[in-house]
Amino acid sequence: MTSPGRSTARRKPPHVLANAPFRKLWTAMAVCSLGDWLNLLALTALAGNLTAGEGYQYQSLAIGGVFVVKMLPAILLGPLAGAFADRFDRRLTMFTADLLRFALVLSIPLADANYQWLLVATFLVECVNLFWVPAKDATVPNLVPKERLEEANQLNLLVTYGTAPVAALLFAVLSVADDALGRLVPYLAERDTYLALVINAFAYLISAFLIFTLRDIPGRGAAAAVAPSILRQIVEGWRFVGGNRLIRGLVIGMLGAFAAGGAVVGVAKIYVQELDGGDAAYGVVFGAVFVGMASGMFFGPRLLRELSRRRLFGLSIIAAGLVLAAAALVHNLVIVVLLTVMLGAFAGISWIIGYTMIGLEVDDSLRGRTFAFLQSLARVTLLLVVAVAPVLAGLFGEREIRIAREPVYEFDGSNLVLLVGALLAIGVGLLALRQMDDRKGVSIVADLIAAVRGVRPVHEGAEPPRGVFVAFEGGEGSGKTTQSRLLAIWLRDQGFDVVQTREPGSTKVGMRLRAILLDAVHQGLSARSEALLYAADRAEHVEKVILPALHRGAMVISDRYVDSSLAYQGAGRALEQEDVARINAWATGGLVPDLTILIDTPPSVGLARLGGAADRIESEPLEFHERVRREFRALAAADPGRYAVVDGTLAQEEISRLIHDRVREILPDPVPQEAEDITGTMPAIRD
Ligand code: TYD
Repeated sequence: MTSPGRSTARRKPPHVLANAPFRKLWTAMAVCSLGDWLNLLALTALAGNLTAGEGYQYQSLAIGGVFVVKMLPAILLGPLAGAFADRFDRRLTMFTADLLRFALVLSIPLADANYQWLLVATFLVECVNLFWVPAKDATVPNLVPKERLEEANQLNLLVTYGTAPVAALLFAVLSVADDALGRLVPYLAERDTYLALVINAFAYLISAFLIFTLRDIPGRGAAAAVAPSILRQIVEGWRFVGGNRLIRGLVIGMLGAFAAGGAVVGVAKIYVQELDGGDAAYGVVFGAVFVGMASGMFFGPRLLRELSRRRLFGLSIIAAGLVLAAAALVHNLVIVVLLTVMLGAFAGISWIIGYTMIGLEVDDSLRGRTFAFLQSLARVTLLLVVAVAPVLAGLFGEREIRIAREPVYEFDGSNLVLLVGALLAIGVGLLALRQMDDRKGVSIVADLIAAVRGVRPVHEGAEPPRGVFVAFEGGEGSGKTTQSRLLAIWLRDQGFDVVQTREPGSTKVGMRLRAILLDAVHQGLSARSEALLYAADRAEHVEKVILPALHRGAMVISDRYVDSSLAYQGAGRALEQEDVARINAWATGGLVPDLTILIDTPPSVGLARLGGAADRIESEPLEFHERVRREFRALAAADPGRYAVVDGTLAQEEISRLIHDRVREILPDPVPQEAEDITGTMPAIRD
């Protein structure tokens, strides 16, 4: 019934890969990424294998050590190296770094895999990476024109994460090949991960060659920007993120999903081993997380369109937790692999929804910092989880649950860690649902069932209304009043039965409420009574005007509805969003518009358009109106399928055209073509 969210759709411009120097750099990036993932897998597997004889605890700690050593340099020395990297010739930096990485990685099998050297070499490789990565990042804008930069960054992300499942698969295949080779060459029999490490080393050598031949890289950077340290980014980031309820919920949720994934990665090697799987199985489990994530990210936005995005976000984190709990308790490798794919998928869904919502919600000027904050926090979370998980598992050790002295169930440290991760994800998911729910008072189960059937649940009354309900929202002077009038005219011209109305003040009682609400005399009106009076006006409006019209099958166009209260009283007056949502759900009996058109205008522009004396609300300070605008945008971002956001600074005809395009999608079928053909009411459209 409701149309898909357009705001998330992406346009595909011609390819940045047509650019030969960038293509070469990108290939080097892909090869290196593949090498990096192989490196991670091979080293953790090797650490586990080297200590296999030393018992469960020792082995877990050895694997944890590799993770710690791999992540420590970035956190300790990251910004420092970034600043240094800008002082050197970038091409030379990358080329030298590649050669060093090649030599260091190759030295691990050559030193015949001694655990201490493994740690030292790994630490050094990561230190070298700290120079390679910023040099590469700084080079991309040199090779790619500005308008292609975003595309280039997407490709960059694609190879960074897209190579993970490829590496996992390759690692699994190499492990199997190693077993076969081991039978022919006894030397290799005991050294299963060597092949992967050698290929890893040669990946860096290939990259060195590609970079060497890339003569388009300019010498040194023009502006040597010192990146702020990770901790600094987090502290600063929290200052503006912490104050916003929606973003706070999103960040907590996304990190919860991340931590759950980290728990799996941290204990995967030991857990797989407990399930009698070898290195190949480890590769498969590792790859399964990423395959799941990629599919979750791809299908997530298309999933259950009728369900509020905020609810889907919380629900998918909870689902990830439940799946993880199952994976923690089932002792069967095949089932664990399948569950891991599902886990990755749910985590991917929540990540992409969170990312999209932040992208839509946060102001341009802050968006970069918000993402940087999120990424820094994600890194630190991952480090902690990945490092702590195996250690915790090791300390807990191996246990058996016995009944009458018979061992009936094994419950080891890795089971415990996965279970803790699962509970964490479930808790965080519940928290996110509570923090950000936009449909308070409407049962989630009912919502979910309706969404699965592809129906948007509207009024929980006796007979569902048959008409179409469109609401206009926006700040002061956004032009929504004009646009709602124009839309009504356009629809009437097509023969629809249209009721155009507004809030507050469309009923007898409402008119008196409006006078109280907007009269500048009532300056000291308490925020709560203001919220209740708007809700009272709305209850009257729904019962006397909107519902009767919808029941008769008319189109109702309302200038403002519940979202105005969420934005003005909730965000503007800083009342609890949850409370405002709840009284309004009660006042309206849960009636939600089929489409809300948000005319998004910067308050400075909107307020300047107003003439005459300012009413009680218009005379609020600019920050008040900024908060209102942000909340409107957040509401729209949370549920793109049910909102259309139109830029209010466009020309009036352009705005009308965009609105018509969107409204056309929800018009009843068949759309009346000729105004003359239509008399009376329009056909019923609801099921
Ligand atoms: P409106 O008549 O639409 O005025 P304008 O044309 O200036 O947008 O709305 C009156 C004011 O009431 C407006 O400043 C917003 C405010 N308002 C709320 O604060 N909460 C609400 O729930 C509604 C409906 C309006």
